[in-house]
Amino acid sequence: MLIALLPGDGIGPEVVAEARRVLDAVCGAALTYEEAPVGGAGYKAAGHPLPPATLDLAQRADAILFGAVGDPECDSLERPLRPEQAILGLRRALGLWANLRPVRLFPGMDDASTLRPEVVRGIDMVIVRELTGDVYFGTPRGRRATPEGLREGFDTMRYDESEVRRIAITGFEMARRRRGRLCSVDKANVLETSQLWREIVCEVAAEYPEVALEHMYVDNAAMQLVRRPAHFDVVITGNLFGDILSDQASMCVGSIGLLPSASLRDWQGALGLYEPIHGSAPDIAGQGKANPLAAILSAAMMLRHSLGLPEAADRIEAAVAKALAGGARSPDLGGTMTTRAMGDAVLAAL
Ligand code: IPM
Ligand code: MG
Repeated sequence: MLIALLPGDGIGPEVVAEARRVLDAVCGAALTYEEAPVGGAGYKAAGHPLPPATLDLAQRADAILFGAVGDPECDSLERPLRPEQAILGLRRALGLWANLRPVRLFPGMDDASTLRPEVVRGIDMVIVRELTGDVYFGTPRGRRATPEGLREGFDTMRYDESEVRRIAITGFEMARRRRGRLCSVDKANVLETSQLWREIVCEVAAEYPEVALEHMYVDNAAMQLVRRPAHFDVVITGNLFGDILSDQASMCVGSIGLLPSASLRDWQGALGLYEPIHGSAPDIAGQGKANPLAAILSAAMMLRHSLGLPEAADRIEAAVAKALAGGARSPDLGGTMTTRAMGDAVLAAL
């Protein structure tokens, strides 16, 4: 099986290297790898954040392991050439509309969060973020001048019913296999897009009487996430709200350096892109300070969802839990261990 390795920018290469070591230990020669530049690295190597050869590799591969994109040296480039366009372009070109972001408190990590231990105990949720629609991709968008000659920027928030329905089905199917609770997050008190979202979710709900559905406005959801995060089981939400809430949720369990993600075009498997939800963190790049666990856990998700190797995924997740329980702590978790040492701790736990 062919894995496209797209390490990208900043800490991407460091954390992907550790994920690769763990994959080698667990899968050996069953997986083959091809690497290609993406993001700022793609721009520097081939003049585009998503060079054609990189996109071609992603399309040929059985799964994609992605690091991070974002490079301050590229900040002044026009938007189509910015590193972020690489990940947005991959999501769109490959039609990866379902983004699964599991948020779980590992045993012994109650005190790693900025929230009190009694608040974070028992957190175990999956945020299902829609990934190819919403204001991220809606048109028209752009810059123009107002009649008074003022500069104006505008974007379009939009969903059609088919996009909402497939995310809703994904959420209900997952909730059915978990604790049976689904929270749909929107802003239906203000936005037309959200009113449609809510309408469609209610239609789909009729087919899942065994799932307890609640609707929550996104501002309230942000509050409830820090008030009683263990309340949530499966959360479905749009692209923009999901981007924001998943960063917030990561801090409930200790660090954004712990959260993996899977981007799929069919929630039951097939091709997927796997990436830590953290960014390229240019301020600590190349210093061995990055936490590789989110990347390692992303590799585990890849084995489970795209490669049909659930036992291997379980082994990796158990090894990460064991390493953390044994006290493995990178700087983001209040410790001093290097990226490599964190990878070593997982390998030792395997
Ligand atoms: C994420 C990131 C991306 C997003 C950026 C890098 C474009 O924040 O995956 O959450 O906004 O989707
Ligand atoms: Mg984000």
